[in-house]
Amino acid sequence: MNILVAGGAGYIGSHTCVALLEAGHSVIVADNLCNSKAEAIDKIKQITGKTDKEVLFYEIDVTDKQKVYEVFLNHSIDGVIHFAGLKAVGESVEKPLMYYYNNLMSTMVLSEACLKFNIAKFVFSSSATVYGENEVPFVETMNLLPTTNPYGETKAMSERILTDIVKANSNFAVTLLRYFNPVGAHKSGLIGESPNGIPNNLMPYVTQVAKGKLKKLKIFGNDYATVDGTGVRDYIHVCDLAEGHVSALNKLSEGINIYNLGTGQGTSVLQLVKAFEEANNIEVSYEIVERRAGDIAECYANASKAEQELGWTAKRGIVEMCKDAWKFEKNY
Ligand code: NAD
Ligand code: UD1
Repeated sequence: MNILVAGGAGYIGSHTCVALLEAGHSVIVADNLCNSKAEAIDKIKQITGKTDKEVLFYEIDVTDKQKVYEVFLNHSIDGVIHFAGLKAVGESVEKPLMYYYNNLMSTMVLSEACLKFNIAKFVFSSSATVYGENEVPFVETMNLLPTTNPYGETKAMSERILTDIVKANSNFAVTLLRYFNPVGAHKSGLIGESPNGIPNNLMPYVTQVAKGKLKKLKIFGNDYATVDGTGVRDYIHVCDLAEGHVSALNKLSEGINIYNLGTGQGTSVLQLVKAFEEANNIEVSYEIVERRAGDIAECYANASKAEQELGWTAKRGIVEMCKDAWKFEKNY
């Protein structure tokens, strides 16, 4: 299939392009590079040995309807994967309009283009954040609870927009993929997560402390009702996540399809730090500080629906996630 990958130069998008190409698909990346670099496209080609024939790149903003329509007019597209979103929770609280505009307009422009050009397959990057403070493990059949920030709200709203579009267009097939905590990097060390400025997320913070770029990890709270008091999350290797998209595309059926992409395993902050130290034989200094506002104690998936219906499960464990994240950080 020829897949339009919106946001394909980014962290999860670039790994998914690799997985798609390795599965025999070709990709057209549409990305405005607001949080990535064009180099990612060269790295995708380098890793897969593919050329401009299978990997096309358009530097466009996917909220720009005219530019998006030009791409759809110029190519025969079989499906769309929509990664093109802004994702920094704190920034979304400071600049809500920017988040609502970018994340909702991109969803609307891309889905409208699909309807106009009769493209039935659409995969959307959602997040476990839509479950709110439900009880773990999160399962797809749960009622969603309120999100705690504008970023999370754009995911919940995009899910509702796409669900309504499907109700009105019975041959449109949409898959909502709710990611848990993607970490790690491609084995080659060529692509990975390279956040701008000081990282908000745990793994990039850990790798930067290990590298000496940052002094000390601040662990946000050790008084949660968890195994050791620190927050528990379902970390998933980004390559497993990427492969989940290929499985989702292969099995995409009419209507709205929702899948958790997680491992089903919870890991605490302290467990992750220890695993990183052991896997890479390097020390990560840390201190315990106050809880971070908006954090929940535990978040992990019930991942059985994806296994049963897509035949997909995460294969890579915490040690591999830590090794690959460190390899990328060292190279970067
Ligand atoms: P990322 O920032 O690395 O990738 C997003 C890409 O989209 C970037 O290359 C950026 O330049 C591009 N982009 C953003 N707005 C655009 C626009 N209007 N037009 C064209 N390109 C645009 O982020 P990521 O971690 O790869 O996340 C991908 C998607 O998955 C996002 O929608 C994010 O919200 C969602 N998600 C991420 C996580 C996570 O922990 N990384 C968790 C859950 C959901
Ligand atoms: C965060 C977002 C979530 C988003 C996800 C992916 C919040 C409240 N949630 O999830 O909406 O979908 O990123 O972008 O921001 N931690 C530390 N020290 C750090 C960083 C994190 O102790 O410097 C802890 C956190 O308290 C948490 C765990 O590590 O327990 C994971 O944090 P993080 O990587 O930021 O992911 P989430 O909070 O799960």
